[in-house]
Amino acid sequence: MPITILIGAQWGDEGKGRVVDWLASSADIVARYAGGDNAGHTVALNGSVYKLHQVPSGVLHSDVVSVMGNGMVVNPVNLVREIESLRDIGMDITPERLVISSRAHIITPAHIALDRARESALGDAKIGTTLRGIGPAYLDKTGRAGIRTGDMLLDVEEYAERLIAAVDAANETLRRQGLDTLDPQYAAESYLDAAAVLRPFIRDTSVYLHAALTAGKQVVCEGAQGTLLDIDHGSYPFVTSSSPTAGGALTGLGVGPLFVENVLGVAKAFSTRVGGGPMPTELDGEIATRLRGSGANFWDEFGTTTGRPRRCGWLDVVMLRYAVSVNGFSEMMLTKMDILSGLGDLKLAVAYEIDGVRHDYPPVTNELLQRAQPIYESLPGWQEDISGCRTFSQLPAAARDYIDRVAQLCAVPVNSVSVGPERDQLVLR
Ligand code: IMP
Repeated sequence: MPITILIGAQWGDEGKGRVVDWLASSADIVARYAGGDNAGHTVALNGSVYKLHQVPSGVLHSDVVSVMGNGMVVNPVNLVREIESLRDIGMDITPERLVISSRAHIITPAHIALDRARESALGDAKIGTTLRGIGPAYLDKTGRAGIRTGDMLLDVEEYAERLIAAVDAANETLRRQGLDTLDPQYAAESYLDAAAVLRPFIRDTSVYLHAALTAGKQVVCEGAQGTLLDIDHGSYPFVTSSSPTAGGALTGLGVGPLFVENVLGVAKAFSTRVGGGPMPTELDGEIATRLRGSGANFWDEFGTTTGRPRRCGWLDVVMLRYAVSVNGFSEMMLTKMDILSGLGDLKLAVAYEIDGVRHDYPPVTNELLQRAQPIYESLPGWQEDISGCRTFSQLPAAARDYIDRVAQLCAVPVNSVSVGPERDQLVLR
């Protein structure tokens, strides 16, 4: 069965880009199914760093087709920029290599302005969004008022009219809040230019994928964000507006479950979160600073899309266990194991205590989650630099024990870990 679904098991930023890049070497198609340019997937290759926001991370393999599924929200202007920057570094981005669903929704300039307006109105209670217009775009989708990528295939004037109407409606809200309004004509023009570039790439990706799957092609479904940011399963309302979980892959691509063979959960060896919302194992002080890094390296814990420093803490197995139950991982990968070298004893949050009661799974309300005291288990750390390890037997015994303990606590095998950002810095069991 030809589908592998790759899912972020935490709050995003698990290093999914590099894992997709690795899986793509034995795939025919890499398909993204949720989110938009709020994502920032980084792939390091031969000393160069590629940051992808909308185009799937398999694009760096010349024989892989990249699909952008119906579950995504697409910013057409930024997508054209991303395609151009890929072409600038010699990549051949043609409609044979990049296929965009006609059913994905478009992020308009109105959505971006409304995202900003909403966040500023929320003040201290803000979500901490990426300000890419994601929430308002999905709101229009579910409110049945959205504009879809397939609408770019319409008559130009009709498409322009829809864009202008969307901007006019947003302007009323912005005016009420005393904020700057947008020029509808200017917004429409830049979107018409983008439509002219993107039109040849747009088609029915569900039909395309079904034909490929029945012909035995291998498809990797690339999750963006992470399980704990899922609109249904995350710490609502501090979530994104899409379904980055395993179920979302099926609806976000329009493919059937019987094709799925593998659900790979990718988790960082410690916890990070960017934006607001509870994070029970969050640390400040020296360990957090060591986990975060200085920002001098692209793999340090600063947002790829926003540059914001990420909150850091010990690995939260309570959340991971929950991610296992939501997604049904068949296996997991732990990324950034090398960052734990030299930290001394390591801690795993194996349960929470809330008001004197032990919880093995996260409670549903943020009020309870804010009061959760992690119950930690300590494990011996290791001093060695492990970035050169390529087999499990080369890892220090303490590192192997850490991996095995996570697997045991989650009841899912951990068959691979990453020990650095480069394509080959992987340890496979
Ligand atoms: P939005 O997706 O821009 O609406 O942001 C909603 C929440 O999801 C915020 O806390 C963001 O920081 C978080 N978020 C969205 N995309 C990513 C991502 O790719 N990595 C990590 N956090 C993300």
